[in-house]
Amino acid sequence: MSLAVTLSRAQEGVAAPQVMVEVYLSGGLPGTHIVGLPEAAVREARDRVRVAIQNAAFEYPNRKVTVNLAPAELPKDGGRFDLAIALGILAAAGQVPRERLDDCEFLGELALSGDLRRVSGVLPALLRARARGRRMVVPRANAGEAALVADADVLVADSLAEVCGWLRGAQELALPGEAQLEPDYEAGPDLADVRGQLQARRALEIAAVGGHHLLMVGPPGTGKTMLAERLPGILPPLSESEALETCAVLSVAGQPVDPAQWRRRPFRAPHHTASAAALVGGGSQPRPGEISLAHNGVLFLDEFPEFSRQVLEVLREPLESGHIVISRAARQSTFPAQFQLVAAMNPCPCGYAGDARHGCRCTPDQIQRYRARLSGPLLDRIDLSVEVPRVALSELSAPRSAYDEDSATVRARVVKARQHALMRAGRPNAEISVRELERDCALGPAERRWFEGALERLGLSARAYHRVLRVARSIADLDGGAALLDRSHLAEALQYRRL
Ligand SMILES: Nc1ncnc2c1ncn2[C@@H]1O[C@H](COP(=O)(O)OP(=O)(O)OP(=O)(O)O)[C@@H](O)[C@H]1O
Ligand SMILES: [Mg+2]
Repeated sequence: MSLAVTLSRAQEGVAAPQVMVEVYLSGGLPGTHIVGLPEAAVREARDRVRVAIQNAAFEYPNRKVTVNLAPAELPKDGGRFDLAIALGILAAAGQVPRERLDDCEFLGELALSGDLRRVSGVLPALLRARARGRRMVVPRANAGEAALVADADVLVADSLAEVCGWLRGAQELALPGEAQLEPDYEAGPDLADVRGQLQARRALEIAAVGGHHLLMVGPPGTGKTMLAERLPGILPPLSESEALETCAVLSVAGQPVDPAQWRRRPFRAPHHTASAAALVGGGSQPRPGEISLAHNGVLFLDEFPEFSRQVLEVLREPLESGHIVISRAARQSTFPAQFQLVAAMNPCPCGYAGDARHGCRCTPDQIQRYRARLSGPLLDRIDLSVEVPRVALSELSAPRSAYDEDSATVRARVVKARQHALMRAGRPNAEISVRELERDCALGPAERRWFEGALERLGLSARAYHRVLRVARSIADLDGGAALLDRSHLAEALQYRRL
């Protein structure tokens, strides 16, 4: 019979639906027809597959070749099905045996030479294949991400010829290698470089414990960007499942995954000229944006008010929900976006408002307009805001003091404090629900009265109320994880709401 079926996977958001490639050889005018791919993709795939088969020293069947990619309604862009199509054609023509095709899936684009080229979205595809108990063959260029999925039955290959040799039982295919479990923290910048800024350091540590959003305000050159860049170095490493989620986004974005650093939390710092689509994702074949690439990690928006208002407003929804849905005429794609926002800004357009050593040239009106670029609802979602004032020159030139702790020391405290939250709720404090809040952020009667009075005076919203409690919870966790919040925890949390 001259019908053969091979399996592959498409890419839809971070999902990887199965695609079945059916190949039928029949009499009639020789030619190749591919059904189920967009017009341009068909032409390209047909030519690549034909030349690659010939260059792999096989014979391209001189018959009518019909290739059907099912189901029909899935997105099927790019060359990711080349390998599955080529193997289907060779199997239908009887040039390779079919035994190993049944329980194996194939991903890979073919070069004209017959070599395999890297494709995007290997990681989510592999997770699905593992769940189905299937083996997968992927290009060697994707070995890095393939190595991340523990217990997956995955093989890597360099070329079509190699895969055919393996199907015939004439040769073995390589394993993808091993991934490192602990990230190499030494590779990043260290908090030991920062002098002074005790308040900001403290806020950064609390933010790290609970995954809270942080805003730093201060004149130019006081260390705001420096501090933000050092946040990933004090965050606990990703758990395996978190790391796989984060790498899945990188993978569908077509970005390389480094198996040595895959457990490190991502840090994304888009420039303030970034468009809304670059930030949240978009495109006719929806691609993840910066907020999704920062999933389970840090999104740093430097020069916060310089982002266009419209760009900042699109952040509001994912900040609350932890994911983003991109709707296109044909389909919807959902990408995860559970990120921790860190923003930095100057207090006014010239940068020096409130700086004792440097006069500010801005009018009150200018300052007001500058700050009004950040909407109330957006600022309401920021749990901690902190001033980062000028550091005295004497402090900068002095040798490192005991207060200038390094990242490893701070990280040890963060990991310990976060452990309390993980034991209680299974999640960092910023993500606990209102119901869990009532359980985990209990107040004594005196504290409750005091807290309500303070909220009243500050005129805080209901959202702010819950957010302050979560921050107080993180502070208490740093303080040994006491079950009841006391007044010092609440007072410190409120203090970060002053702006
Ligand atoms: N607290 C500090 N300790 C040590 N070095 C510092 C500190 N603050 C600033 N510096 C030095 O100044 C440089 C600029 O710091 P950074 O980029 O963090 O400033 P910034 O607050 O982000 O300024 P801007 O508002 O202009 O963006 C640093 O690379 C570092 O050399
Ligand atoms: Mg800066």
